[in-house]
Amino acid sequence: MARAIALAERGLNTATPNPRVGCVLMRDGVVIGEGWHPHAGAPHAEVFALRQAGAAARGATAYVTLEPCAHFGRTPPCADALIAAGLERVVIALEDPNPLVAGRGLARLKAAGIDTAQGLLADEARELNIGFISRMTRGRPWVRLKAAASLDGKTALENGLSQWLTGPAARADGHRWRARACAILTAIGTVKADDPQLTVRDLPCERQPLRVLIDPRLEVAPTARILQGAPALIVTASTDGARAHAHTSVLTGLGHRVLPLPAANASERVDLPALLREFAALELNEIHVEAGAGLNASLLAANCVDELLLYLAPLAVGNSARGIFDLPVLTALESAPRFSFHDCRQIGEDLRILARVATHRQAAPARP
Ligand SMILES: NC(=O)c1ccc[n+]([C@@H]2O[C@H](COP(=O)([O-])OP(=O)(O)OC[C@H]3O[C@@H](n4cnc5c(N)ncnc54)[C@H](OP(=O)(O)O)[C@@H]3O)[C@@H](O)[C@H]2O)c1
Repeated sequence: MARAIALAERGLNTATPNPRVGCVLMRDGVVIGEGWHPHAGAPHAEVFALRQAGAAARGATAYVTLEPCAHFGRTPPCADALIAAGLERVVIALEDPNPLVAGRGLARLKAAGIDTAQGLLADEARELNIGFISRMTRGRPWVRLKAAASLDGKTALENGLSQWLTGPAARADGHRWRARACAILTAIGTVKADDPQLTVRDLPCERQPLRVLIDPRLEVAPTARILQGAPALIVTASTDGARAHAHTSVLTGLGHRVLPLPAANASERVDLPALLREFAALELNEIHVEAGAGLNASLLAANCVDELLLYLAPLAVGNSARGIFDLPVLTALESAPRFSFHDCRQIGEDLRILARVATHRQAAPARP
């Protein structure tokens, strides 16, 4: 199963919107077939492994990181393919949370007389598909908020300068986290200050994440670097008024999508939980936030953050610099948002911390 998980990881950046899945077929202690799911529309991991094994699959054991599907999606059911191949035993790490599958794949295998087992390396399989599982079970993607900060927790100097707090190794690591995300989310303050491209660079990349900009008053310049290249999604609080209307026409004319998503009770605010539901409807599993303290705080306050990805540089910049979250003044520690540390390691000269909001404390540990 560990080998099947390693195979599944090959689809880390490309399997979306599907889960990352790997499969190993073994007979008499020998691996006779391997596969993983590379991208939507391609055969599933089990099919690749069965093709490699050929007739030797009869009587073999399959180790699959996720329950084989039992429904016709973009491809026919894998449970049927395993039955047809004459497998003797199927071991899965995790039941598929997709309501279209959810136990039906295993039931089908059992009904065909195949011996089944589940739960082997389930935590690892769950971690690998944390976004897919979140979308299937909560109707929202997994939101990972990335920030680079000084050791005293500051993300930008008072004059707005933030590039580059961390070193090249941490920045390269940040690009690897971007690459696995389905979308990168930022807000207009960051675009005005830094004019970032928010693309995946300096590593092989078959798929660029969708870039999403929260721009409540539609201020983004058509020349902004986030609007160059692939179409972006611009989320605004309103498209009313002649100026907003004209600007929307310019942006849509450039191929971008403008999505009005006003909050019910406050002007010039985007309804962030509604945005997460919209992301789920777009089949986005993992969202990577790279924004300033303004949007970071809004997301946190709206309970729209699942995980922090923090890079801490070994320098201090003082109190006049900006923090990670523009939170309102707190009068009691009990009201402070809480996290639990999930993983901590040094990347180059910097420290990388993964922390999850306290409600996710029971989540599985990260793979080293
Ligand atoms: N070190 C890092 O990792 C890092 C990363 C990115 C940016 N930065 C730095 O952060 C600074 C920019 O900070 P910032 O706070 O201005 O940037 P920001 O968070 O990217 O953008 C702030 C904008 O987002 C809007 N906003 C926030 N929540 C909203 C909601 N729910 N609905 C609608 N609009 C919402 C704000 O609207 P209102 O004006 O109405 O509040 C404001 O216009 C720059 O200096 C940049 O260099 C640092």
